[in-house]
Amino acid sequence: MTGFRTDAERADVARVERLTRVTGFFNPDEVRIAAELVDERLTKGKASGYEFVFVDAPDGDELLAYSCYGPIDGTQRSWDLFWIAVQPHAQGRGLGREVLRETERRIALAGGGLVWVETGGKALYQPTRAFYERCGYVEEARLRDFYAPGDAKVVYLREIAASSD
Ligand SMILES: CC(C)(COP(=O)(O)OP(=O)(O)OC[C@H]1O[C@@H](n2cnc3c(N)ncnc32)[C@H](O)[C@@H]1OP(=O)(O)O)[C@@H](O)C(=O)NCCC(=O)NCCS
Repeated sequence: MTGFRTDAERADVARVERLTRVTGFFNPDEVRIAAELVDERLTKGKASGYEFVFVDAPDGDELLAYSCYGPIDGTQRSWDLFWIAVQPHAQGRGLGREVLRETERRIALAGGGLVWVETGGKALYQPTRAFYERCGYVEEARLRDFYAPGDAKVVYLREIAASSD
């Protein structure tokens, strides 16, 4: 069974930086921001609004996978999933789904009910959209030309059941 860790450590700033970079999926700005969110959590604690699920590699000092998520201010039960990434060598074996399910379980425990995810509409993001759809997420909105002409933002939603354990 996969072991999850939720307390961020100082070393996670660099680990998240390396993990997001090695996926080849995020641009340099996004890689930097992903790492900064860990730093912000370490500095501000829960008030940062950023929560994490980490999966440590069994050997070495890297992350196998992680997610970053948080409550959306001003809403009753909406939460954002900001990032999810799995090491390339560990992809396609169900780990992304496990991390997503653990993230949803924790959101439900915290009283959340709606999980929102934003992604791009371009062909590059087809695998990401397929992943979310296979995991029960439904396209809720498509904001055409959002990023650039012909480059839409796609918003996915999954409603999760309330939980007490
Ligand atoms: C997207 C990502 C997190 C998925 O993690 P993963 O461990 O490879 O995914 P899983 O093995 O858990 O797959 C779960 C489901 O999604 C589907 N899926 C995953 N990757 C897919 C792909 N490239 N194409 C089509 N379906 C895909 C799987 O088939 C599986 O569905 P099934 O079990 O019903 O057949 C991972 O590939 C990744 O880190 N990608 C780069 C970063 C990224 O895109 N992050 C999301 C944006 S923040």
